[in-house]
Amino acid sequence: MVKTSNLEKFYKKTQGERISIIAEVCNLGPEQVNLLKALVNPDFMKIMDGMIENVVGTFPLPLGIATNFIINGRERLVTMAIEEPSVVAAASNAARMARPHGGFLADPVKSLMIGQVQLVDIDDPGKVIDLLKKNETKILSKANEQDPVLVKAGGGARRLEIFKIDTNLGVMLDVQLVVDCLDAMGANAVNTMAEKVSPLLEEITGGRSLLRIISNLAVHRVARARAVFDKELLGGSDVVASILEAVEFANNDMFRAATHNKGIMNGVSAVVRATGNDTRAVEAGAHAYAAWNHAYKPLTRYYSDKDGNLVGEIELPIAVGIIGGATKTHPVAQLCLQIMEIDGAQTLSQTIAAVGLAQNLAALRALVSEGIQQGHMKLHAKNVVRMANIPEKYHERVIKEMVARGKVRIDTATDIFKDITKNEKNTP
Ligand code: MEV
Repeated sequence: MVKTSNLEKFYKKTQGERISIIAEVCNLGPEQVNLLKALVNPDFMKIMDGMIENVVGTFPLPLGIATNFIINGRERLVTMAIEEPSVVAAASNAARMARPHGGFLADPVKSLMIGQVQLVDIDDPGKVIDLLKKNETKILSKANEQDPVLVKAGGGARRLEIFKIDTNLGVMLDVQLVVDCLDAMGANAVNTMAEKVSPLLEEITGGRSLLRIISNLAVHRVARARAVFDKELLGGSDVVASILEAVEFANNDMFRAATHNKGIMNGVSAVVRATGNDTRAVEAGAHAYAAWNHAYKPLTRYYSDKDGNLVGEIELPIAVGIIGGATKTHPVAQLCLQIMEIDGAQTLSQTIAAVGLAQNLAALRALVSEGIQQGHMKLHAKNVVRMANIPEKYHERVIKEMVARGKVRIDTATDIFKDITKNEKNTP
């Protein structure tokens, strides 16, 4: 049991001091301490320390490259940071199936974000809404004063949208500031603007502003991509028909729709993460968008074209940037943007949408044919042999046998290893 969680001035300590404290209160041995230390490249330490609080180390994830993508006529390699086996291979495989038909086509994506100000204590909502509309220019100017750099670059607050909400605690107004964030994700710009305009909103309306914060339901920043997946590469017209049935299941069943969308987010979040963007923001937006009409739906649609190929389409908000926060400070995120040849937030959103679609198609194809486990098995088996501490020279044989038995487990690995070594001893 940890001795105490009350670590005085922990945030002020150096990384080395923090590690010593944690080692002390958690009874960590030298091996565990070394693990924390070894996972921090000294050059990274400063950067990591500036990113979050109380840093004691780093948490590495595999960074993979998905191949075969053509997006809007351009070849692209896609960087994905994810712990789950098969995701990178599946995305690459689906992208390959779209190549004969030109790959992915993605629509332009606007970089408009919403900052919400919640106005309460509203006596006459109609009158207050009129007042806000009359003062729109003044309110937008106040917002734009907060970010001259954004405004100079061509972005800034564009318009107000006002919604009346009837709640159990009375009428409230949702005042939405629609801001063009250009190549930024925009949370900082939008939050600052929302906070700074709120006294003016109170002055104009006589109401009281409460929450002032970005909305992650970025409905004005929706990315759309489509691709034609080749019927023959998919495995024939039966596979196409089965995929359409599988999607219809998700269209009509929320339990399935959640998993369908989870598969999409496997691809989406992996790219969002690799580029230092906020996975939670994109995930929250995606799931809220999926429930747009108060019924949770898949984020993709499919139909077959006149030649029997499968056409897939995806639509979801993707609020990502390339110039702020970790996208800028994390050297690996910068490198990922370079590998993907991303020249702006729009290209990144389009790429992510394409990956989401590819990921979904790959999952559906596997699910309607061999199932998902077969693909997972081999990679999973690689982890299992390591966890079972099987010596490396036996890995291949143990993995092969586990997969053949369809039992990828630590106990099975150990049994197989024992059998192999016993046979070796018994063989003259
Ligand atoms: C697993 O991470 C993702 C899937 O469950 C997605 C799906 O079922 O469509 C395979």
